[in-house]
Amino acid sequence: MIDTPKTNLQWLLADRPIDRAVRESDFKLHEAPIPEPKEGEFVIRVIYSSLAPVMRFYMLDGAGIEEPLEIGDVMRGRGVGQVVTSKNPDYMPGDIVHGKMGWQQYAVADGSPYYLMYKVSQREVPVSTALGVLGMTGFTAYFGLFDIGKPVAGETVLVSGAAGGVGSNVGQIAKIRGCKTIGIAGSKEKCELLVDSLGYDAAINYRDGDIGAQMDATCPDGIDVFFDNVGGEILDEGLARINKYARIVACGQISQYIGDGSPRPIKNAYKIGRLNALMQGFLIYDYAPRLAEAESGMVQWIREGRLTYQEDILDGIERMPEALIRLYDSKNKGKQLVQVSPDPF
Ligand SMILES: NC(=O)c1ccc[n+]([C@@H]2O[C@H](COP(=O)([O-])OP(=O)(O)OC[C@H]3O[C@@H](n4cnc5c(N)ncnc54)[C@H](OP(=O)(O)O)[C@@H]3O)[C@@H](O)[C@H]2O)c1
Repeated sequence: MIDTPKTNLQWLLADRPIDRAVRESDFKLHEAPIPEPKEGEFVIRVIYSSLAPVMRFYMLDGAGIEEPLEIGDVMRGRGVGQVVTSKNPDYMPGDIVHGKMGWQQYAVADGSPYYLMYKVSQREVPVSTALGVLGMTGFTAYFGLFDIGKPVAGETVLVSGAAGGVGSNVGQIAKIRGCKTIGIAGSKEKCELLVDSLGYDAAINYRDGDIGAQMDATCPDGIDVFFDNVGGEILDEGLARINKYARIVACGQISQYIGDGSPRPIKNAYKIGRLNALMQGFLIYDYAPRLAEAESGMVQWIREGRLTYQEDILDGIERMPEALIRLYDSKNKGKQLVQVSPDPF
C-alpha cells in the first residue's frame, strides 16, 4: 500500500551508461521539499511513472529529441498524476493530468508544450492506462500499425517485442483488423501470454532455437506487415521473409540500444527494393494533433471487450531504477510502470 508522500523523493542522474548497460548506481535518490507553484505553474502529485527503453539515451545524449540531461538533473520521464496546487487557471486541484513529470513524487509544470501536458478524462479504466494502452505506448501501436503498416484483413502481421508495452497492443489491434498475427518474445511464459491472453495466432520464442525456421513455420504465406520493436537479427530474419509490397514498421531497435553504438549490419535490406516493400520509422510525438483519434478508437475496443491491456507495475518510487533495468533484461510483461502514490479513485 502506497502512502501519500510528505516530501518529494527524486531520482537524480548520477552517471552515464556509456558503452554499457544501465545500473542502479547511475541514479541517486534525493529528498526535496514539496514544491510550491509560481505564477502560471501547478504542482502535480505523481501517481504512476512510465518506463521506456529510450531512457538510456536520455541518460546519454537526449535521444536526439530532447536536450541532454546534466549529471544531477532529475531523471526525465512521463507520468500521470493529480494536480494538488495551482496558479494556472487551466489546471485545477483534483485534475488528473498526463505529461513530463520526471522521476519524482511531486512535479511542477506550466501549460507550455514542453511538458506534453493534457488532462486525462477517461474514467472507465484505471488512471495507469493513460501511460499504457491509452497513452503514448498504445498510440505508438495504433499509428505505427495503421499509418505505416496499413494492415488488410487476411494479411500476416509479424510483431517483435510482442509481449512488451507497445507489442502487447499491436497484435490485438491487427487481430481486430482481421489479420493473422504472429508475436515474437523471449521466453516460453511470454509466448503463452501472447497466445492465451493477447490474441496472437502463434508465437515465436527467439531464445529457443532457429528464429528463421520458426518464422517459416508460423508464417507459411510470408510476412505482409512486420511491426519491429527490436531490430538486429530478428529484423534481418523477418526481412528475409517479407512478401511483395510488405510494410515494415521500424518502431524501435531495443536489441541495439546497449553496445558501442554501431548497429548490427542487416543482410536482407535488399529485399525491400526487390519486393517493392516499404520500411519506415516514426516518432509518436509527431502524432500529437491526432492522439484523440487513437484514444477514441481504443476506448471503444476496450468497451467492447476486444482490447485488453497488460501492465507490469512495481510499487514505490524507490524501485524506478530497477523498473527501467527490467526492460533491458526482458523481465517486464506489458507496459512497465511504477506506482508512486495512491490511486485517486
Ligand atoms: N517510434 C516511437 O515513437 C516509439 C515510441 C515508444 C516506443 N518505441 C520503441 O518501441 C519498442 C518497444 O517499446 P516499449 O516501451 O513497449 O518497451 P518494451 O517492449 O516493453 O521493452 C522491453 C522488452 O524488450 C525486449 N527486449 C529487450 N532486449 C531485447 C533484445 N536484445 N532482443 C529482443 N528483445 C529484447 C524484452 O522482451 P523479450 O522478453 O521478448 O526479450 C523486454 O521485455 C522499443 O524499441 C522502443 O524504443 C518507439
